Amino acid sequence: MPVQESWGAVDEHLARALLPADAVLEQVLAENRAAGLPAIDVSPLQGAFLTLLTRVSGARRVLEIGTLGGYSTIHLARGLPGGGRVVTLEFEPHHAEVARRNLHRAGLAEVVEVRVGAALDTLPVLEREGAGPFDLVFIDADKRGYPQYLEWAVRLSRPGTVLVGDNVVRRGGLVDPAADGDPDVRGVRTFLDAVGAHPRLSATALQTVGAKGWDGFALAVVD
Ligand code: SAH
Ligand code: DHB
Ligand code: MG
Repeated sequence: MPVQESWGAVDEHLARALLPADAVLEQVLAENRAAGLPAIDVSPLQGAFLTLLTRVSGARRVLEIGTLGGYSTIHLARGLPGGGRVVTLEFEPHHAEVARRNLHRAGLAEVVEVRVGAALDTLPVLEREGAGPFDLVFIDADKRGYPQYLEWAVRLSRPGTVLVGDNVVRRGGLVDPAADGDPDVRGVRTFLDAVGAHPRLSATALQTVGAKGWDGFALAVVD
């Protein structure tokens, strides 16, 4: 079996062994595809990882940058205790509309607020409203924006806040000289350097393989 096919097969095995069957989540993915959204949602196992991180961190207030159809959002929201809230930021009105529908179907319409606009416009509004500090921030919008999203994430955090950055490996683009001119790869490199150099962050990153190919998460906690 070619190695990449094995990653997918192993993901399926792990998901079958570990994750409960979930008609809502399956329907959300089907709705996203039917609505023409790109298939760049986190994988089911990665989603379960987000639920788990939310739970173990005891997060009550979660910020997500990059909603798409709300598949990751649902996983984050499911890790919250009663009364917990997610604010999720999305640039594309069509994505936000699909996400709101999905969140409603998942019974989370009252738990999650979807805000439409470029995150660099909506993040300052959140700060002005005093919406922070957030307990967990999931950064997953345009990769070229990651360095600025990092700054905002830290501004809207408290000591102990967990930061998660998706897609920091990008099939090895991170270290591929041929990708030096790619603004998304550059964004991720600058983001990782800024995380590592930040005086208030302790961080690591984990590479992942699976149904979504080869990628990785950066994980940090605010000191
Ligand atoms: N978190 C989702 C996937 C997000 S894909 C999941 O795993 O299910 C990235 C999303 O970021 C897309 O929906 C894209 O429209 C959105 N996006 C791109 N640029 C943005 C910006 N400047 N501000 C907010 N969202 C943006
Ligand atoms: C892309 C974006 C994502 O958030 C993701 O998880 C995978 C790919 C992309 O823009 O290619
Ligand atoms: Mg992503």
